Amino acid sequence: MARQGNKEAKRVAELREQINRHNHLYHTLDAAEISDAEFDRLFQELKQLEANFPQLKTDDSPTQRVGAEPLKSFSQVTHEMPMLSLDNAFGEDDMRDFDRRVKTRLGVEGPIEYACEPKIDGVAVSLLYEDGRLTLGATRGDGITGENITANVRTIESVPLRLLGKGYPARLEVRGEVYFAKSSFAEMNRQAEKSGDKVFANPRNAAAGTLRQLDPRITARRRLSIFVYSVGVVAGELPGQHSEILEALAGWGLRVNPRLKVAAGVDGCIDYYQGLLADRAGLDYEIDGVVFKVNSMADQQQLGMLTRTPRWAIAHKFPAEEGVTRLNAVEFQVGRTGAITPVARLEPVQLAGVTISNATLHNMDEIARLNLRIGDRV
Ligand code: IVH
Repeated sequence: MARQGNKEAKRVAELREQINRHNHLYHTLDAAEISDAEFDRLFQELKQLEANFPQLKTDDSPTQRVGAEPLKSFSQVTHEMPMLSLDNAFGEDDMRDFDRRVKTRLGVEGPIEYACEPKIDGVAVSLLYEDGRLTLGATRGDGITGENITANVRTIESVPLRLLGKGYPARLEVRGEVYFAKSSFAEMNRQAEKSGDKVFANPRNAAAGTLRQLDPRITARRRLSIFVYSVGVVAGELPGQHSEILEALAGWGLRVNPRLKVAAGVDGCIDYYQGLLADRAGLDYEIDGVVFKVNSMADQQQLGMLTRTPRWAIAHKFPAEEGVTRLNAVEFQVGRTGAITPVARLEPVQLAGVTISNATLHNMDEIARLNLRIGDRV
């Protein structure tokens, strides 16, 4: 082991800062400034220095995302503040009822300001930052107790191991949704099919299964993402509006959905809903509706909550992405490796803005399980 000098310690700090910054630009802001090759060079240089000077290695180094050993099981985590769920609105009438209840309780006549966000169809998680360092990641579980999945969330590149900038609370719990980008999901299933592994039915199941992997090396290979949408326990100051809190989180390097918008009154919310519904199919992640939150934190406080849901928020659900059509034919595709996959040719049907005319049947067992016949309504 070489003796570490000041020069090395300084270079390690410099490299970490650069790597964290470029990682944030690439994975969180989608605005890379350097090429993959340049990034790899910085990363390799840091790895080499840490190998030569192990005393410089720290837990929050960008080289330390993936733990070496699989876990035996997940330990339980009791949430300091329960993780709530949301009440649902299924149409405009439900939305107007919600808005009326909010106004009555607050004793307000004019339009309420709402923060509008996509409702991400993934898995809820909590991340705890202490003095800016990620110290705990947990699943929602039943809202009171979840599982400690720190080793797995550390592998998600859009989860900072260290917050950027300054001014963050000494203890800051953020909550958000871990999900698979549609593109990463498709890629993962392509790989799984090629290697004969189990394919996942949808991105949500895949995200849940991947977060519950005991071997973080597997989690790391499968490119999960996160959007953060609220805070839990906070020791320190945060702004007085939900939208400003999310902007502050974004400033500390956390990934906030770019479609966040503040709307005036229930009519503004309904416009937002229509706009997002129209764009739904073009997004690279699945959403199952919109979440509206009273923007003023003081008003949220005053409204309070019911047993499991806050009175200051509601989820306006999108219609399910399901439809009925006719099975016209089954064809067999031969893959590059010689694997044969049956594919259903369907009477084209419109679903959430896209036309579906083919569906994979995975294998012959699946055809038997579904008991499919040409001409069936599916
Ligand atoms: S806020 C008290 N915002 O939807 C409010 N939730 O039942 C807590 N979800 O478990 C949730 N996107 O996992 C909120 N932009 C968003 C969300 C969101 C997805 C999930 C969340 C929660 C469930 C609501």
